[in-house]
Amino acid sequence: MPNPEKVLQTVAWKGGRVRMIDQTALPERLTYVDMSDWRDVAQAIRTMVVRGAPAIGCSAALGMALGARGIIAENKAAFRKRMEQIADTFKAARPTAVNLGWAVDRMMGVVDRVDGNVVDIKDALITEALEMLREDIEANRALGAHGAKLLPDSVSILTHCNAGALATVSYGTALGVVRAAVEAGKNVRVFADETRPRLQGMKLTAWELLQEGIPVTVIADSMAATLMRDGKIDCVIVGADRIAANGDTANKIGTYSVAVLAHHHKIPFYVAAPLSTVDMSLPTGARIPIEERETVEMTHLEGIRIAPEGVTVLNPAFDVTPHELIAAIITERGVIEAPFAKNLAAVGEREAVLA
Ligand code: MRU
Repeated sequence: MPNPEKVLQTVAWKGGRVRMIDQTALPERLTYVDMSDWRDVAQAIRTMVVRGAPAIGCSAALGMALGARGIIAENKAAFRKRMEQIADTFKAARPTAVNLGWAVDRMMGVVDRVDGNVVDIKDALITEALEMLREDIEANRALGAHGAKLLPDSVSILTHCNAGALATVSYGTALGVVRAAVEAGKNVRVFADETRPRLQGMKLTAWELLQEGIPVTVIADSMAATLMRDGKIDCVIVGADRIAANGDTANKIGTYSVAVLAHHHKIPFYVAAPLSTVDMSLPTGARIPIEERETVEMTHLEGIRIAPEGVTVLNPAFDVTPHELIAAIITERGVIEAPFAKNLAAVGEREAVLA
């Protein structure tokens, strides 16, 4: 049984600074970095010191609160102008995860809403960012509990990339479902795709689960088909960076291939994500912006060149899984099944009424 006290907190506000786990040092070292300049937070998002859709959203919120503290402005208009520049920098840091823009817009909403002097707005921004961190953990625990109910008592789960505590503030989405299933007394084994090129599955998912003694086996991405054919996988659970209104889901490159394989082998393919990952402004996944990262991530491993000099490589960081391949989307408000266009809209409307 995992000890809830041992679950990692990936981003936090400590003594007026932003603290985050340096994920580029894992699994060799668990180290934390403290940042007192908002530009360092934006750079940490770009360089993937912090990564995972909810984690970068919450980091940007904390970064904006930090940036606000440093602004010297005579009036609200001047303060807002400066905040807009900070907001634009955060939004541009990584394009695919909608959580980043969602968090930044929510922080700008505070700037617009709070009447009062600049000091009041700065305080309100910190309060809002901390509330977003709290909500993230709460959403993950809720979606984890909903997802765990879908699983049999003994289950073997394939996951891709890292959608764990390290990709959120804590607890995780796909791995939140894993944690909740373990807490419910189920017998869970995880297979983690290593997730080329950055190896989040091997470096982060495997490390994170090992910390809590949850059984995990790492496989090369190319092994998933064989494991499925041999009956070793009962279901797939992945996270999401952006879900379009019809359920099309952007997630780490390679997710789409896993979904096709799961469909072929008649294995349920689940997406676990908070509702903040749903982008109702996009009717389908066709216009989800896909981040292209530096080709060095492909050509080099741990700084050592593994590709021939001069070869052309591609490095899209995400792909889009068509909604037809998704058995259900597990959210904090429950498990959403097809037709996703209708059912996601209904949840969105209920949320709007509750807000
Ligand atoms: O490039 P990354 O490591 O930020 O990609 C992360 C993923 O694709 C995750 O699966 C996704 O953000 C969901 S995290 C709960």
